[in-house]
Amino acid sequence: MYKINTNYQKLPGSYLFSNIAKKVSAFSEANPQADIIRLGIGDVTQPIAPAMVAAMHKAVDEMADAATFRGYAPDLGYDFLREAIVSHDYQARGCDIHADEIFVSDGAKSDSGNIQEIFSQDNRIAVCDPVYPVYVDSNVMAGRTGEYNPQTQMWSNVIYMPCTAENHFVPEFPKENPDIIYLCLPNNPTGTTLTRDQLQEWVDYANKIGAVIIYDAAYEAYISESNVAHTIYECEGAKECAIEIRSFSKNAGFTGVRLGFTVVPKELVCDGVSLNSMWARRHGTKFNGAPYIIQRAGEAVYSAEGQAQVKEQVGYYMNNAHTIYTGLKEAGYEVYGGVNAPYIWLKTPDHMTSWDFFDFLLEKANVVGTPGSGFGPSGEGYFRLTAFGSHENSVRALERIKAL
Ligand SMILES: Cc1ncc(COP(=O)(O)O)c(C=O)c1O
Repeated sequence: MYKINTNYQKLPGSYLFSNIAKKVSAFSEANPQADIIRLGIGDVTQPIAPAMVAAMHKAVDEMADAATFRGYAPDLGYDFLREAIVSHDYQARGCDIHADEIFVSDGAKSDSGNIQEIFSQDNRIAVCDPVYPVYVDSNVMAGRTGEYNPQTQMWSNVIYMPCTAENHFVPEFPKENPDIIYLCLPNNPTGTTLTRDQLQEWVDYANKIGAVIIYDAAYEAYISESNVAHTIYECEGAKECAIEIRSFSKNAGFTGVRLGFTVVPKELVCDGVSLNSMWARRHGTKFNGAPYIIQRAGEAVYSAEGQAQVKEQVGYYMNNAHTIYTGLKEAGYEVYGGVNAPYIWLKTPDHMTSWDFFDFLLEKANVVGTPGSGFGPSGEGYFRLTAFGSHENSVRALERIKAL
């Protein structure tokens, strides 16, 4: 008789966004005339820019010709893309990262969920609270998180590092030493980040206690302040303790075409075993390569034309972020984020819970956002709006919120 992985049954409730979708569809069924503005899910809305589209068209034509057809891609990624990543994202920033440390994938969600597989079951993880739920949930599935307490909404074997207005969204070093530290910077959902000096302290801490940092930099393209690192490898000693995960979803609008990569430096060695070799083995066994057509589009992101177009798109969303941030301030809200990230994080008024504020905003303004409590217990009392909508909708949503 087979047995299932009972860790899956420990996962509480259904995924945050399916709960939101259910509430929104119930509301729109009951109010068919309501013009709902969605500033909830972190999905982009602008079309893929011309340089990337042209690269995909060209690659499709190559696939249609026997002379240029490509079958399975190399599991770790095509050299043309790995070289472009290394030169633009790392060497241009003075970081000594090489192509054989880059693992091209189908996106940061898979990588941030899968990376825990190369670590032992008895590692203790630490996460910022609130944060992107994939880190905790993937460790729940792997049986690493202990028991769930529905009252506190915490797992017994997870170290939570609260990031709230009280500590300016800067996680403090935990009292107990973690083995694996997840850092998502700029952070989803708070839109806040650390300065380069603050990040350096985390790198020093990880090296001191022998922990590994899983650094999710999916929102790197949105960094606007010069004292914020674009990659953790700008910090000294990071190659000895950090794995970095990146995505083409939010900078180039690839949420639907799927492309990302993970950096595992050769210096990352545990008890004489190279994590780079382990991840190569894992990738080779369980992943058959990102599509050629999409990797060519990824290469085009790094062309001069692609860079200009991607910058313009990020600028478009950041203009929305500014509109939302300043509009909320004018309406009297306590607001964070929106400067180095496409997320705006607000404190709910009058001590409303995150879900109460969700209902209030949906009913009174027909605006959909995301309850902060869905990202961790310290997200309670906060709410996330995203800048990924159209500019027109961002303006309209804020007009409605101001009129409440
Ligand atoms: C922090 C973070 N990491 C990863 C992802 C997923 O990225 P991808 O589309 O590359 O899978 C998201 C998506 O919202 C995210 O917020």
